[in-house]
Amino acid sequence: MATTRDASGQLSIGGLPLSAIHVPTPFYCYDVDAIVEEARALDAAFENAPHLVAYAVKANTAGTIVRAIAGVGCGADVVSGSELAVALGCGITPEKIVYSGVAKRDDELDFALSCEGRGICAIQVESVEEATRVADRAEKKGIKARVSFRLNPELETIDTHAHIATGHDEAKFGIAAADIERAVAAVRSRSADVELVGLTSHVGSQLTSTDEYIAGAKALFGLARKLTDAGIFVPRFLDAGGGFGIDYGSGCPVTPADFVKAARVVQREAGFVDVPLFVEPGRSLVAAHGVLVSRVIQPKVTGERRWLVIDAGMNDLIRPALYQARHRIVEVDTDSSKRTTAWRVVGPVCESSDDFGVYDLPEKPPVMVAVLDAGAYGFTMASQYNGRAIPSEVFVRGGKVASTSEGPSREDWLVRRLRA
Ligand code: LLP
Repeated sequence: MATTRDASGQLSIGGLPLSAIHVPTPFYCYDVDAIVEEARALDAAFENAPHLVAYAVKANTAGTIVRAIAGVGCGADVVSGSELAVALGCGITPEKIVYSGVAKRDDELDFALSCEGRGICAIQVESVEEATRVADRAEKKGIKARVSFRLNPELETIDTHAHIATGHDEAKFGIAAADIERAVAAVRSRSADVELVGLTSHVGSQLTSTDEYIAGAKALFGLARKLTDAGIFVPRFLDAGGGFGIDYGSGCPVTPADFVKAARVVQREAGFVDVPLFVEPGRSLVAAHGVLVSRVIQPKVTGERRWLVIDAGMNDLIRPALYQARHRIVEVDTDSSKRTTAWRVVGPVCESSDDFGVYDLPEKPPVMVAVLDAGAYGFTMASQYNGRAIPSEVFVRGGKVASTSEGPSREDWLVRRLRA
C-alpha cells in the first residue's frame, strides 16, 4: 500500500497529502518512486543470473511509469501494436520487448518484425496457425522472424478468479502440449523465414501462492529440456510469465521475489542456469502504488439501506464489476473520533454492478475517498460509458506532483458522438 496517514488524519501518497492535489475528481494518483523501488527489488531477486524483467505494459501504460520502470533496466511484454509503440516511445530497446497475445493482426506483426530496423526480441506465438502467419509476414519482408512458443500447461486448478486464469485447457491462450510437435514442424518447414528462440508460459494473474507458478514453470522447463535434447532448438531465453499477486487487503503471503526464486529453482533443476530467465510482471510493479481519488456525490438512505454514491464508477475502475474484486476504500481526511457505519459504496453509472461493496466509513459522509491498490488495470481499463470522462492521472515524485495527465473529457466525448 502506497498510502500513509499522518497524525492529523490526512491520507498521503508518496509523502504528498491527497487533499493538496487540486485536480477534478475522479483521478488516479501514483507514487512513481515506490514503483521504481518495486522494480528494483524484483530485479535484485535475480542476483547475478541472466534475466529480463519484461514489464507487462497492459497493467499501466502511462509514459511516466513506463519510462521509470525502463530506467531500472526492465524491458516490456506487450499485447498490441499500440503497447509496442508505448514501450519503444519510452526508450525500451526492441531487444528487451516480447509480444504476447492470442493472435496479432498482420499490421501488428509487421511492426514487431521490423521496428527500429531490427524487430523485437520475440513474438510469442500462441498457435500453430499464428506461427505460420508470422512466417508468411517475414517471408514478405525478406527477413527471418524470431518466435517463442507460449505453452498452455493445462493445469487442473488455478487459484484465482476464472476471468484471469489462463493456463488451463479451456483457455484460448497458448499452445497445448499435444500441438507442440505440429508447431515445431510448422517452424522447421519455414526455416528460412522463422526461427524458434524461446519458450514462454503465463498461467494466470493475481496468484497468491507460488504453487501454480511452479507447476507452469515445470511444464515450461520440461518442454525446453525435451526440445533441447532432441536438438530442435537452443533456447535464447525462457519466460515464466507474470501473475504475481498483491495484497488487496485480504492478504498475500508471497512476494514477487518469491515467484522469481521459485522459477529459478525449477530452471536450475532442468539444467538451464545460463539461459536468461524472463518474467512478465504487470500488477505487482504498479497496483499498490496507485489510488483512485473520488468525491462523494451524496448519500442515499432508504429504510435500512445506506448507499454512498461517489463520483468514480465502474467506467473508471472496472475490477469490482468484472472480477468481483474488492479494493480497500478509505476517507481522504479522517477524524478517528467520528462514528462510523456500514455504507454500500456505489458509483453513478447506470448498472447495478457499479458497486464497490460495503465499507465501514463515517456516518456523516466524508467529502473524499480513496480507492486503494488501483495502480494496475485501473486507468488502462477505463471507458467513457455513460458519456463520462476518462480520469486524469497525477504522478508524484519526491513528495511533489511531478506531472499530471488529462484523459479525454466529457466534451471530447460529446464532440465525437455528435460527429458519429
Ligand atoms: N503476461 C501475459 C501473457 C499476460 O497475459 C499478463 C496478464 C501478464 C503477463 C501480466 O500479469 P500480471 O503480472 O499483471 O498478473 N485485468 C485483470 C488482469 C488481467 C491480466 C491479463 N494478463 C485484473 O484487473 O485483475
